[in-house]
Amino acid sequence: MSSDRITVSRAANGLHGTITVPGDKSISHRVAILGALGTGSMQVRNYLCSEDCLNTLRAMQQLGAGVTPGDAPQNFTLTGTGMQPTAPAHDIDCGNSGTGMRLMAGVLASLPFRSRMFGDASLSSRPMKRIIDPLAGMGARITACGEKPGCAPLEIEGGTLRPTHYELPMASAQVKSAVLLAGMLAGGRTSVHQPAITRDHTERLFEHFGIPCTVSADGLDIAVEGPVIPTNKDITVPGDISSAAFWLVAASIVPGSEVTLLNVGLNPTRDAVITVLRRMGADISITNRTEGGEPYGDITVRAPQQLVATEVLRHEIPNLIDEIPVLAVAAAFAQGTTRIRNAGELRVKESDRITTVVGNLRAMGAEVEEFPDGMEIRGGAPLHGATMDSYGDHRIAMSFLMAGLNAGGETTLLNCHSINTSYPGFEHHLRSLTGC
Ligand code: S3P
Repeated sequence: MSSDRITVSRAANGLHGTITVPGDKSISHRVAILGALGTGSMQVRNYLCSEDCLNTLRAMQQLGAGVTPGDAPQNFTLTGTGMQPTAPAHDIDCGNSGTGMRLMAGVLASLPFRSRMFGDASLSSRPMKRIIDPLAGMGARITACGEKPGCAPLEIEGGTLRPTHYELPMASAQVKSAVLLAGMLAGGRTSVHQPAITRDHTERLFEHFGIPCTVSADGLDIAVEGPVIPTNKDITVPGDISSAAFWLVAASIVPGSEVTLLNVGLNPTRDAVITVLRRMGADISITNRTEGGEPYGDITVRAPQQLVATEVLRHEIPNLIDEIPVLAVAAAFAQGTTRIRNAGELRVKESDRITTVVGNLRAMGAEVEEFPDGMEIRGGAPLHGATMDSYGDHRIAMSFLMAGLNAGGETTLLNCHSINTSYPGFEHHLRSLTGC
C-alpha cells in the first residue's frame, strides 16, 4: 500500500534495475467483465490487483462470477455465469474508476434486473451523460442521481436493448466500449464510429473471447453482432504501459539512469508515449517483442544527454492521454517549448489534469502556460522541490514524484493513497530503483 504522503529527493546516482510493472488496468477491467459473462472457466494471470480493478472483479462476483485463488493474488480462475448473471445483492462500488463504471453500465443496462453503481467523490463528479446518451438510444433506462447533474450514482433498470449505430462525439475508448458491450448483448449489429483511434483492447478481447467483431481498415468503425456469449479462454494480462511510463520518464530525466521494464504491453493504440519520448531524444530500446493478441515486450531506457522539446500531435493525444501528466514532467526537463493541445479530455479525468499539472509544475519553478485544451511548457530550467497535492489523482502523485527525482531539495506529494488505484507496489519500485 502507498503511504498518504511520499517524499523523494534527487536520485544522485540515477535509477538502476529491472522491474515488472503490474498488469494493464484497461485490459484487467475488460477481462473481468467478459469472463464473468462468458461460458466456462479461464485462468487469468497477472490481473491488476489495484483498487480499481478489484472493485470491478468484486462487482462481477456480485453478478455470480466465481473467483478461485491461484498461486498469487494476480493469478486466479474466473468462472463465468454463461450469461445467466444474478441480480447484485448490494449497490456496486466502483471506487475511483471511470472505466469500471462506464463499461459496466453497458452491461448492466442489458441485464434483466435493477442495479445501482456509485463511486468516490472524484468519480461522482465525472461525466456519465457520455455513456447514458448512447445507451438510452438503445433503450437503456439509466438515471444519473448524483448531486452534480449527469453524474453518479447511476440507477439502472436493465432490460433487452436494441442495436444501434453511434457516432462518438469524443475520442473515448470507454464510451466506445460501453456501446460495444451493450451491442454484444443486444440482438443484431451494433456499430460505432470514433473521431480518432482509441485504445482497442475491447476489440482485441472480443476476438479472444470469440465474439464476432469487425473493424474498418482505418480503425475508426467497429461493429459487433449480438447477442453472443463470450467463450472463456485463459489469458495473461501484459504489464501496463501507463505504469511503465513513469520509469521511462524518470530514467530519461535523471542522469546516469538505466532501467529495464519486463513484459510491458506494447499495443499500438497505447504506445505513443514511447514515440513522443524518442522524438524528445529519449534512449528507449525494445527487446523480446511478441505479436498477436496484446503485444508486449521488454523496454530498456537509458538517460540521454539532454531531452529536447516537442509538439504532441493531435492524433497522438488519445493514444497517450493517461501519460500526459508525466510527459509534461519530461517536458519541464527538455530544452525548448513543448506544446500539448487538443487535450481537453484531461479536464474530466480523476482530477482536472490540465489545472493540476500546470499548478504543480509552477510550484516546482517551471514556466508553463495553460490553455483550455492543454499547455505549453518552457523546459530546461532547474526545478526545485515542493510540497504538492496530488488531488487524490494517482497519475498526478506518481508524475510529480518523478519530477522530484531530479529537483533540488525535497519533493513531497500529499494524498498518495490514490496510487493504489492503479499501481500497487509503486513505492517499493521507487525505493528499489533509486536505492533510497
Ligand atoms: C480507458 C480509456 C481512457 C483512459 C482511461 C482508461 C479505458 O479514458 O483515460 O484511463 O480503459 O477504456 P476515455 O475513454 O475517457 O478517454
